Amino acid sequence: MSIDQSYNQWADSYDNNLNKTRDLDQIVTKEVLGKLKFSEVLELGCGTGKNTTWLLEKASNIQALDFSRKMLDLAKAKIQSEKVHFLQADLKAFWPVPNNAFDLITSSLVLEHIDDLHIIFRQAFDKLRQGGYFFISELHPNKQYQGSQAKFETPDGKTHFLEVYTHHISEFTDTAFMHSFNLVELKEWFDEGDENGAPRLVSFVFQKK
Ligand SMILES: C[S@@+](CC[C@H](N)C(=O)[O-])C[C@H]1O[C@@H](n2cnc3c(N)ncnc32)[C@H](O)[C@@H]1O
Repeated sequence: MSIDQSYNQWADSYDNNLNKTRDLDQIVTKEVLGKLKFSEVLELGCGTGKNTTWLLEKASNIQALDFSRKMLDLAKAKIQSEKVHFLQADLKAFWPVPNNAFDLITSSLVLEHIDDLHIIFRQAFDKLRQGGYFFISELHPNKQYQGSQAKFETPDGKTHFLEVYTHHISEFTDTAFMHSFNLVELKEWFDEGDENGAPRLVSFVFQKK
């Protein structure tokens, strides 16, 4: 099953299933982006709008992209604001938003589904204004080395594993540097009470030179 079809199936239970990665990402997003000033936001892979709702409190305009029709429909049902524009788009293709228009791009739990990070960083550079931030939060590669990956239970009780790619930490940073970003912050995030285990998430704040 393709990735967008998988998310169309997952959509109905995405917000409600037990999902430590989703819940920790919400905390990380608020903690990291709470320190930054931004107004014009491009959200990559907004899903059901879990982070869009919070971003709205700080942003004056959000363009939220996702290729799953059902995830987008849920986000639209949840968030009715003139400040948010939801667009169906494949991030591996052309992003249908203006260049040099954003002071923040966010991407949470999306890039494990993108094999070639150059496509993402190249367009992120085009879409951001000079000095704009690119925030990424992802399942930590250490978790992936141990076999963790995006998955959900289908209505008939089977586990469906999505198509994923492992990106090492250095792949994120090397690709960012190649596309003229500086690294502002890199943090590793642990499950509560498991600070000696493998980190669950990694977050980056890059800045366009
Ligand atoms: C794990 S969900 C994360 C959703 C949201 N960012 C969050 O943190 O809850 C991944 C999202 O990325 C979207 N996605 C994955 N690959 C994509 C692609 N190539 N183009 C557009 N959206 C994509 C999926 O449809 C899904 O909504």
